Amino acid sequence: MCGIVGAVAERNVQGILLEGLRRLEYRGYDSAGMAVLSDDARLNRRRAVGKVAALEASLDAGPLEGRVGIAHTRWATHGRPTEQNAHPHQSGESLAVVHNGIIENHETLKAELESQGYVFTSQTDTEVIAHLLAREFNRTQDLLEAVRQAVALLDGAYALAVTHRSQPSLIVGARKGSPLVVGVGIGESFLASDPLALLPVTDRFIYLQEGDVVRIARGEPVAVFDAAGERQERSVHTYEHGDGAATKDGYRHFMLKEIHEQPQVVAAALEGRLSERRALIESFGSEAEAIFSQVRQVHIVACGTSYHAGLVARYWLEKYAGIPAQVEVASEYRYRRVVVPDGTLFVTLSQSGETADTLAALRFARERGYVGSLAICNVPGSSLVRESDLTLMTQAGPEIGVASTKAFTSQLVALMLLTLSLGRLNGMDESRQAEIVQALRTLPGAITQVLGLDGAIETLSMAFAEKHHALFLGRGSHFPIALEGALKLKEISYIHAEAYPAGELKHGPLALVDSEMPVISVAPNDELLEKLKSNLQEVRARGGELFVFADESVRLEEAEGVHVLRLPHVDEALAPILYTLPLQLLSYHAAVLKGTDVDQPRNLAKSVTVE
Ligand code: F6R
Repeated sequence: MCGIVGAVAERNVQGILLEGLRRLEYRGYDSAGMAVLSDDARLNRRRAVGKVAALEASLDAGPLEGRVGIAHTRWATHGRPTEQNAHPHQSGESLAVVHNGIIENHETLKAELESQGYVFTSQTDTEVIAHLLAREFNRTQDLLEAVRQAVALLDGAYALAVTHRSQPSLIVGARKGSPLVVGVGIGESFLASDPLALLPVTDRFIYLQEGDVVRIARGEPVAVFDAAGERQERSVHTYEHGDGAATKDGYRHFMLKEIHEQPQVVAAALEGRLSERRALIESFGSEAEAIFSQVRQVHIVACGTSYHAGLVARYWLEKYAGIPAQVEVASEYRYRRVVVPDGTLFVTLSQSGETADTLAALRFARERGYVGSLAICNVPGSSLVRESDLTLMTQAGPEIGVASTKAFTSQLVALMLLTLSLGRLNGMDESRQAEIVQALRTLPGAITQVLGLDGAIETLSMAFAEKHHALFLGRGSHFPIALEGALKLKEISYIHAEAYPAGELKHGPLALVDSEMPVISVAPNDELLEKLKSNLQEVRARGGELFVFADESVRLEEAEGVHVLRLPHVDEALAPILYTLPLQLLSYHAAVLKGTDVDQPRNLAKSVTVE
């Protein structure tokens, strides 16, 4: 999704802005641009369709010089990805703005501004903001005040960075519904939609809150004002994930690096959260025990891959904790007339913590009488974290590949900790708790063993690259893993894939099975194994080629059209986590063979901050 970088520095900012944009590339975008204020207060702009490299080429041909500038990667929502629609947008030659989010009342505002003589040159909603800001600046002659007046007229979501040639040593930023951070340097200040963009210049950040307006100016301290216009002292946080996440570390793609990080990621998600025989409820916050002890059921809301993690948790919460759970995609939940029984906990899952639908669902839920809200999230300081009663950080470190991998496994670990915590308060058998705790400790080792199958999985993937469709099957808590496997294959290889609970096959999808339809299945050794085997026979009898990832103890022979890959045995409670890995690797290798853009698949964005 769109990305913002801004800098007020003691040096030329072109390089800082360009590097910031490169670091935001993973979010997905289709054009990029930059505006820099020169020391003689002229506003110069470059924009280009396509990758940041295209903008860089244009800057090579005509560099921008100046110590104040803003830059942007745009993911098209209003108007096609053209140079005219790319940000920064200007009003005349004086003011430039970059914007993330969507302005819902842009048509009304545009009509009003046109009637006042402003001329529009793009199809974007953002250009409305540029002219509104210019109008307010003409009235107030003060950029901070102009931003305050203008944002009061906007409906929708925004993160903004604005510069004006009449105040050439400052930038004003504002946020509501879209993230924006201030990078605090030494005598310099920066703005970005994601701290990753600024790590080469600072590791100290202020996470702006909803409605905040900020002024960064050369030689002056950062000034933050809340929605009511009151000056606020916001704390400065040191970024603790290190900068290693922004490099591929010798891997061909971020996605492959992130898949291989999963043993450490699982260990980090568990660190300090287990006692000898139990999960520590306090990991969810000091209020957790008081809230959890009232919980009789759980509503889980998320999108995409995070939603799939929620679906696994439903099986776990019901089977191990004896607690009913309902799981729903956020874009449906938020518009539904939801009935909330007494004692219901509201849980959101999100890698980014900024997904617009999930955030809106949380805000909607706050008015619905839940006993509390819990966010399981990977980004500290994100909106979801700040607005929830309880939080559990997944500790996966920044995920750069658009397709979520390590964030998913860390969410599953967090959800197992939730299951054990709620289970403990709901009378879950103590020795079963201890067994699962022990199994969690050995999980990183089992994951490392599965990663050792990478070469064999790469060989299997050769059977896919030419296919147009694939079916994924699973049963019980592995049905969501099949859904996740199909989503991964779709999004990075563009092969159409569907997932079904294996028992549903004969109710329709079996009609699709022939020798051109690869069928991928996960077969842990659980109570549904024999039933799954019968379903696989049904596929084989119709000529479908089977790719089965099975527990090492499962009796299932390799044969013509039946490929079996053995996984180490784990406690069945944790098998969904382990069986995720081969499906991630399979999609990855199929995509590499097809030559797609693995880390930035077409049309997708890392952080979906618009509805
Ligand atoms: C798929 C993927 C998306 C996200 C979804 C929710 O690989 O990454 O489906 O899972 O957009 O994002 P978060 O978890 O940030 O709320």
